[in-house]
Amino acid sequence: MKNNLPDIRYLFEPKKLAVVGASSQVGKIGHSIVKNIVESGYQGKIYPINPKGGEMLGLSIHKSLSEINDCEIDLVTLVIPAKHIFQAVKECAKIKAKFLSIISSGFSEVGNTKEEMEIVNFAHDHGMRILGPNIFGIYSAKASMNATFGPSNISKGHVSIITQSGALGIAMIGKTQVEKIGLSSIISIGNKSDIDEADLIEYLVEDPQTKVIFMYMEGIKRGERLIEVLQKATSKKPIVVIKSGRSKRGAMAAASHTGSLAGADQVFSDIMEQCGVHRATTITEALDWCKFLSTNTRPKGENCVIITNGGGVGVLAADACEQYGIHLFDDLKTLECAFLEKVPSFGSVKNPIDITGGASMQDYKRSIETAFEHPDIHSIICLGCETAVLTGETFKNTILEFHKKYAHHKPAVFSFVGGENIEKGIAYLRSEGVPIFSDIYQSISCLGKAYSDFRNIQTHSDHHSKEDKIYHIKLDKISSIIKKAQTDGRNFLLAHEGKDVMEAAGISMPKSKITKGPAEAISTAEEIGYPVVMKIVSPDILHKSDAGGIALDLQNQKEVIDAYEAIIHGCKNYNPQAKITGIEVMEMVPPGTETIVGGRYDPSFGPVIMFGLGGIYVEVIKDVSFRSITTDRNQISGMLKKIRSYPLLLGVRGEDKKDINAIIDVIIKTGMILKHCPQITDIELNPLVAYDEGDGVKAVDVRIMIQ
Ligand code: COA
Repeated sequence: MKNNLPDIRYLFEPKKLAVVGASSQVGKIGHSIVKNIVESGYQGKIYPINPKGGEMLGLSIHKSLSEINDCEIDLVTLVIPAKHIFQAVKECAKIKAKFLSIISSGFSEVGNTKEEMEIVNFAHDHGMRILGPNIFGIYSAKASMNATFGPSNISKGHVSIITQSGALGIAMIGKTQVEKIGLSSIISIGNKSDIDEADLIEYLVEDPQTKVIFMYMEGIKRGERLIEVLQKATSKKPIVVIKSGRSKRGAMAAASHTGSLAGADQVFSDIMEQCGVHRATTITEALDWCKFLSTNTRPKGENCVIITNGGGVGVLAADACEQYGIHLFDDLKTLECAFLEKVPSFGSVKNPIDITGGASMQDYKRSIETAFEHPDIHSIICLGCETAVLTGETFKNTILEFHKKYAHHKPAVFSFVGGENIEKGIAYLRSEGVPIFSDIYQSISCLGKAYSDFRNIQTHSDHHSKEDKIYHIKLDKISSIIKKAQTDGRNFLLAHEGKDVMEAAGISMPKSKITKGPAEAISTAEEIGYPVVMKIVSPDILHKSDAGGIALDLQNQKEVIDAYEAIIHGCKNYNPQAKITGIEVMEMVPPGTETIVGGRYDPSFGPVIMFGLGGIYVEVIKDVSFRSITTDRNQISGMLKKIRSYPLLLGVRGEDKKDINAIIDVIIKTGMILKHCPQITDIELNPLVAYDEGDGVKAVDVRIMIQ
């Protein structure tokens, strides 16, 4: 991208606006946009443009952009049919416009990609940037500017929405109004031909009015830059995302286990997690999180207490806490000291603090106040079931009082279950900004997201003080191996070439040698030491076991000779035309925990790495996790912990802990190979056998695919 392009600030804080296609006809999009700009209280200059001239909404209409006697318009909104857009963009260049918001449909979304690209290139050549096309516009609270054709009465607040879907974006404006969520901006990005999420987040993360960013995404265009921006942004502000289009196309096109396991959706979810972004499933969930995170203070520590008048809801809440990673304060001595006097003898102070079914709002008050004021308690979950002493009327005012008094001090969520009166009370309290829900999971998920942010920020600051390990990889050697395979016209590396790549990266593989006859096989086996494994080496046989090309656990000379003959015989039968380079004799590695490390070039995110439970059943078990390549050990450690079988690495049934550090080293090195050798499309170490802590790992087999 050119560096003479305008600062994104002008898009959010324009001083002068023009609307090309401004229409006097009520009901037309070109009318609604000008009306919204005027009614939103925008204080800058507005130039409506229409060849018919005249006047609208108290503004005089100019017949063309060239007629404006004013240069350097910050934002031009274009609302004319697609076929006239390019010409209008050329006019914009003449008046030195900075940003163009192209509302019109009819570009790449219907296959007209070439013209869309030409427009962007022209705009960049003339110092302009494009929002859209195919959008409903932009609202920016900072400029009091609603340059959209969505609803007119957007309330100002602290949530920014970036949306790829227009219709859904407009609907979300309505929903935020119902939920009393104020917006600091909403930006429709449509085809994102030029400006995308990353550009906008860079501005929003520094915008003091924006406390939470919410993205609705359908597809990713410049994934690697997005990751970079998100990782920095989430250390400052929470980001919530919804992504639709859970496509399996990527998996279908894949050539390796890693590829087929890399369903586009899991890669997206895992990478969002790596970036510290909260992925929501529904709009309601996303807006709940946005509202909570934008209006409540963050926790300052891990200790949470549940206060409840019902054992059942307390247990449900404890389950939800486990699901959302909330730590229940379990220092019994402190809990007893703080709550024993406030809880009846038949209640419980063993968090959940059960103040029992007879608890009145006064009893709640005493326990909640204690929790809010206790220095070792950092967050509160307050639950209630409707009883004769706790009805809709009694709880409303007390909860509101707590919220007003303490919301800026400690995060607290409320969940009350009951009949019509409780529901009415909840609706009233929600309208007053209290994070209260009738569903326990809904309320606890909000607090869970606040905790994820809390930890994300902590890890980020911890990480800055740590030095990353330096890895030496012989990239020249790897390049020459790849070049040779390409010269031979192959899209994969042979086993010994894969082994050479691993050696160049310092990844340990079993000792081995390619032999040309039974005698050499025997001498090699003796050199390596029994037992050995033998494998066919042929560019024409990719799936060796299918061809009878593998023999395991060979204990002596005789078994080596027999295996040699059996392998040659089996492979000739399997593919009589196969060119046989030789037979590889390999050290048989001792058993350990079989894992898999993979890497591939993802169409959306660029190089990604995978870790999981290895062996022949990986595709069935599908216990894997993904990350964008990184050298950050913390992030990779998070990737390891994500798989269900992680406890196997910690040692189960009396086994020792496995060498997790050695696994992390291999994952980092695999990522580095992918990053520096773009000709590699897929790389897979399966199994990567992990031994006890300190004993390292061994990559038994490696498959490398190239372009
Ligand atoms: N400069 C200035 N005004 C121009 C112009 C130009 N080069 N070319 C045309 N106009 C005027 C027209 O005369 C018309 O004015 P009028 O209302 O006074 O007659 C106005 O601009 C609009 O042109 P028109 O041809 O009537 O188009 P339209 O209003 O029917 O549709 C769009 C224009 C952009 C709304 C339509 O092409 C479109 O793309 N609709 C889909 C928008 C959408 O859904 N976007 C995605 C949302 S998420």
